[in-house]
Amino acid sequence: MNIAANPVIEADQTIYLKDYQKPSFLVDTIDLNIQVFDDHTVVSTKLVMQRQTAGDLVLLGRDLELQSITINGKQLAENEYVLDAEQLVISNAPDQATIETIVKIHPESNTQLEGLYQAAGDLFVTQNEPEGFRKITFYPDRPDVLSVFTTRVEADKKFPVLLANGNLIEKGEAGEGRHYATWQDPTKKPAYLFACVIGDLAVLKDSYVTSEGRNVALEIYAEEKDIPKCHIAMEALKHSMRWDEEHYGRPYDLDNYMIVATSAFNMGAMENKGLNIFNTSCVLADEEFTTDAAIMRVQSVIAHEYFHNWTGNRITCRDWFQLCLKEGLTVFRDQSFSEDLQSAAVQRIDDVAVLKAHQFPEDSGPLSHPPRPDHFVEINNFYTATVYEKGAEINRMMATLLGKEKFRAGTDEYFRRHDGQAVTVEDWVAALTAGSGVDLSAFLIWYNQPGTPKLEAQGEYDAAKQTYRLSLKQSLKTHPKYPNLKAVPIPVALALFDAHSGEQLSLNCESLFENGVKDGVYLFDQDAATIEFTDVTSKPVVSLLRNFSAPVNLEFNYSDEELAFLLQHETNGFNQWQATQTLLDRILLNDHPADIYIQAMLNTVPSLIAHDPLLVSRLFDVPTEGYLASRIDADYQPQVIQEKRNALLDTLARAFGAQAKEIYLSLDPKSQADFSQAMGTRALKNIMLTMIARQGDESAFELAEQQFKNTANMSERLGALRVLVWNDAPQAEKALIDFYLRFKDEALSMDQWFMIQAAHPKADAETIAYLTSHPDYDLGVPNRIRAVSGGLNANPVNTWSFGVQHFIDLAKYLDEKNPIVGSRLLQVLSRWYTLAEPQRSEVKAQLEALKPIVKSKNVSETLSSMLSV
Ligand code: ARG
Ligand code: ZN
Repeated sequence: MNIAANPVIEADQTIYLKDYQKPSFLVDTIDLNIQVFDDHTVVSTKLVMQRQTAGDLVLLGRDLELQSITINGKQLAENEYVLDAEQLVISNAPDQATIETIVKIHPESNTQLEGLYQAAGDLFVTQNEPEGFRKITFYPDRPDVLSVFTTRVEADKKFPVLLANGNLIEKGEAGEGRHYATWQDPTKKPAYLFACVIGDLAVLKDSYVTSEGRNVALEIYAEEKDIPKCHIAMEALKHSMRWDEEHYGRPYDLDNYMIVATSAFNMGAMENKGLNIFNTSCVLADEEFTTDAAIMRVQSVIAHEYFHNWTGNRITCRDWFQLCLKEGLTVFRDQSFSEDLQSAAVQRIDDVAVLKAHQFPEDSGPLSHPPRPDHFVEINNFYTATVYEKGAEINRMMATLLGKEKFRAGTDEYFRRHDGQAVTVEDWVAALTAGSGVDLSAFLIWYNQPGTPKLEAQGEYDAAKQTYRLSLKQSLKTHPKYPNLKAVPIPVALALFDAHSGEQLSLNCESLFENGVKDGVYLFDQDAATIEFTDVTSKPVVSLLRNFSAPVNLEFNYSDEELAFLLQHETNGFNQWQATQTLLDRILLNDHPADIYIQAMLNTVPSLIAHDPLLVSRLFDVPTEGYLASRIDADYQPQVIQEKRNALLDTLARAFGAQAKEIYLSLDPKSQADFSQAMGTRALKNIMLTMIARQGDESAFELAEQQFKNTANMSERLGALRVLVWNDAPQAEKALIDFYLRFKDEALSMDQWFMIQAAHPKADAETIAYLTSHPDYDLGVPNRIRAVSGGLNANPVNTWSFGVQHFIDLAKYLDEKNPIVGSRLLQVLSRWYTLAEPQRSEVKAQLEALKPIVKSKNVSETLSSMLSV
């Protein structure tokens, strides 16, 4: 083997978008033969390649033991190629080159969960997005190289299931107790969409007939005992297939669609062509074992991965800078799908809550980047809330502006133009523009710059002229790496309400966008602008950014009374919720008195319960301490925020008084026919139970104990357990043991058991030490790590005291074992610089001390960005 004599020590490993070049060779076909043995795997690969432009033939490969390489049938001598830790380069390759390689790899000891890895005793799976394929074989592993894959998988018969993408074309005996299966995927795809699975799994089968009449075999593979938990996912899959036909005109294109569940997975799931691989947390759903929130998530992730078949697979990304092209669009599509599963307003509330809790903080700190970054060191670090969630918001803005029909004309044009191609964000916006006839090119600005815009608005009513003038201003915080920030197009959906009657007023204003949408939408694309509404007969209350029509921070000088008015009179459920959140921001961050908020809640909630319990449960949302922290840029004292938030929760609980128990006792989830109503009823019941406990009423514990015992529903059981554990109720210990014995063989339920204890408001270093040294704690399973770390981080007071060492130790350990997850967990500490002294300096010193120790690009890049403030 020929290791480059003088490997370039790259001080700067940054990759830039501007340096993009086409690959010099394309791959017409790839034949893989993957032979799995107990202590190694052999991968034999045949690539039929063709020159496209001048340049070297470059095959990427990492951690591969090269056994042999031939070109056009001739063995390559060691001086005919250069091999280093990242690639194999052949300088004078002929224009037609058939390359055959044999490599040895070690999935049995692959803890990074990238490439081919042994996930559990009886299961081998792959994760190749973004750059895992190069850990399986030498290949031009980049998304703009599309090829037809034929895959032979061979293993011992103790692994009866042998899967790869596409159609099964052959299977048979391979001698010595071994067997094989050969699969061929007719659609050209980039290597990141390749998958194979070797294991001993049970399967749930169903079928689906597409709008084109294609009969598709549907299969979900999981452990035998989990098969009953796969039905919700199967229904969601069929629903998604229908939904994409109806809403985007996209039928499925293969004869089979397989989903495989594994407990060892770094992310949620992966859209490999025709063979999705899922974290069990995103496929198993059953009310006995998983919560309502998890059930909703399963349905949305099933839809997400299915929708990728068109937005991601049939049309893929030219390079990884374009990641948000497929992710932003697919998240927007899965959010729209989920709006049909529960109340659309509540789905929007939940999606915006996630955006504000994760993306806004990310975008205001040292890890801030544009949805389409222009440089990175490690692309795995860019599977972020900004790429996914802000990416989705950009698509939603364009969809809002266009209205249903024009947006559909735009997406039709995108699919017509680019099917089978690897494209860019520019291609997407150009196709939408051409199809809809509306110039959307200004939206490219959103993709290219970081930061959450501030939208400042002011309203002025002129009673004599009967006009209402609305002035708008936008601005962005400066960013050292992105100096030329421009004004972005902001669709402002708005409504006016009569301040006395609460009636919605009709809008007379020339500037509103004509898009067939009922609500008025003003496209604000300047630094500042003023619009005027005429024939406004009495002083109105304006409601802005209805349904959160743009991902901006709105500042409007509402009085608290006006916000209370909107809570009661807005007809858009999202903006009702937004009114509570704005009031709470003021109470918790600006020391406004709580009484107006409390009174508005008392006025609004009781009458709404019968009608929409799910929405009511969300109106009780109080921003988390983590979210509040993200609104504070300096001198943040976790303890102070915690105390204020607790005081508010106490006041709210006291204000509801005896009503809390009345509401609790009156709610009966079983009487709700509709899942979403039942889910709302359960959520609200749990909120009331928490309130009763907050009132210091010990009968809460008996109610909780009864609820815990008498239910077969996980949301109810956990809601009760939480109240017992977090209040150190006398019944807590027994309930924890009961839960443990009942669910010890159910990993996802046990994740909840770990999480609840880690999130105990009075959890301390000992609690966490107890949990992380528990026999069921496993550093090889990201879900379990996240359960404890996520629980811990529910209390920022803990995160910023003993939690700092916890996260640093994890980053240190995972740096080698699983850098993708290590890097993500370290990001929890990214807002260290906002802390008040002396904490700020202490944490900084701990982070600095980590710097010389970590080696992976993932953790190093994150750490150095974090320290660059
Ligand atoms: N494309 C997948 C999804 O969003 C995510 C895969 C991310 N994997 C990773 N290693 N970063 O559905
Ligand atoms: Zn995705």
